[in-house]
Amino acid sequence: MDYESGIKQKGEDVVKKKIFGLFIFVVLALFIAACSSESSGDADGKTDDAGKDNSEGGSDSKGEVEIFSWWTGAGEEDGLLALIELFEEKNPDIAIDNAAVSGGAGTNAKAVLATRMQGNDPPSTFQVHGGEELNKSWVAADKMEPLNDFYEENEWMDKFPEELIDLVSSDGNIYSIPVNIHRGNVFFYNIQVFEDNGIEVPTTMDEFFAAADKLQEAGTIPVALGDKESWTATQIFENVLLGKLGPDDYKKLFAGEIGFDDPRVAEAAEQFGKILDYVNEDHASRNWQDSAQLVANGEAAMLNMGDWAKGYFANDLDLETNVDFGYFAFPDTDGEFQVITDTFGLPKGVDNPDDVKEFLKVLASVEGQDAFNPLKGSIPARIDADPEKYDQYGKDTMEDFKNSRLVPSLAHGSAASEGFLTKANQAVNIFVTQRDVDNFIQALVSAAPEM
Ligand code: GAL
Repeated sequence: MDYESGIKQKGEDVVKKKIFGLFIFVVLALFIAACSSESSGDADGKTDDAGKDNSEGGSDSKGEVEIFSWWTGAGEEDGLLALIELFEEKNPDIAIDNAAVSGGAGTNAKAVLATRMQGNDPPSTFQVHGGEELNKSWVAADKMEPLNDFYEENEWMDKFPEELIDLVSSDGNIYSIPVNIHRGNVFFYNIQVFEDNGIEVPTTMDEFFAAADKLQEAGTIPVALGDKESWTATQIFENVLLGKLGPDDYKKLFAGEIGFDDPRVAEAAEQFGKILDYVNEDHASRNWQDSAQLVANGEAAMLNMGDWAKGYFANDLDLETNVDFGYFAFPDTDGEFQVITDTFGLPKGVDNPDDVKEFLKVLASVEGQDAFNPLKGSIPARIDADPEKYDQYGKDTMEDFKNSRLVPSLAHGSAASEGFLTKANQAVNIFVTQRDVDNFIQALVSAAPEM
């Protein structure tokens, strides 16, 4: 071998060794990556493709439960994290994938969920409102497992109010488990602002408008609104509707027994428009948390929001119930309770149903509900939870729930199908800027067949 070819040969050997070394390195790296993705609990809140691939191996238990919700960030996720922590204490061998998609009332999450469900790629379990959102979307499409036996085995039939079991049932089958009860017809108010302006808690719409005038004259925003996502305005409208129609006719409206062309619906729209005269100018660029901040810092006096706002005030903004903020039923709806219940079920086709059921058991337990709800601002769905774990707002709301007429919320999925709700949100959004009652009513009338 001559010098040149000797050098070449040596050079080739070195290159071969390097390639071999690189090959071993890549194989090792892939192996380590595969191991770590299998064991990762994925606390980062993102959907994990590696986790999904593992799940397709066909084993009974992959040791991971993916929880899909829209509880991210301020005022939303504390309760969920407490529930996950409790679950992990009890089930150290089952990892949780917290797959939450941000956006109040499921604005974005519901769309992501729909794509996944249609693609037969369901999360292990997902947040869904009791009522039509569950029944008309996922039960009707035959995507959910009935849980009757699971309820019986765990002796839950008398642990949840009948009305809630009805909301999560269809044709005699039960399809999900309620973790909470939120109330939608509540106004929260800044106590200092009320005192400074000599305002008494209003109980009727007339008193409400008198208070709003007084506040406006004093240069304070009477009502905070953040309708960047239009459900917050829809929620005000549904509460005005409840006040105008009363609980029986409100239910008849959504059962299609009373038409949206009923004159009282137009009156409700007028009144809704009047409330909008008292809101902050930048409402369209705020979300619900941003609007709650206006009340927290005294720029605005009142906020109609479900009581997840209580969780936000108390846990995120460190405000004290009945010291910094107070609460009252939406005027003209005292004795009525706009029910919003977050529930979780078992989608068909998940490959580790037993692990998912372990999570559902924790969520359904007194301990689980009492870990979740005091942070979330809601009351427990179970009737045997411990009231002492709740502040005065929670205790009052538990009493109100027992003594009120219960009605299903439109804005939060219980009263009507998702198709109708999407159109109602659009109609509300247009109404907020145009204030055209006839157009608004017309839009609701044309959407009604989709209810
Ligand atoms: C509701 C849900 C609540 C809360 C709220 C704001 O639809 O039931 O739990 O998350 O949206 O996002």
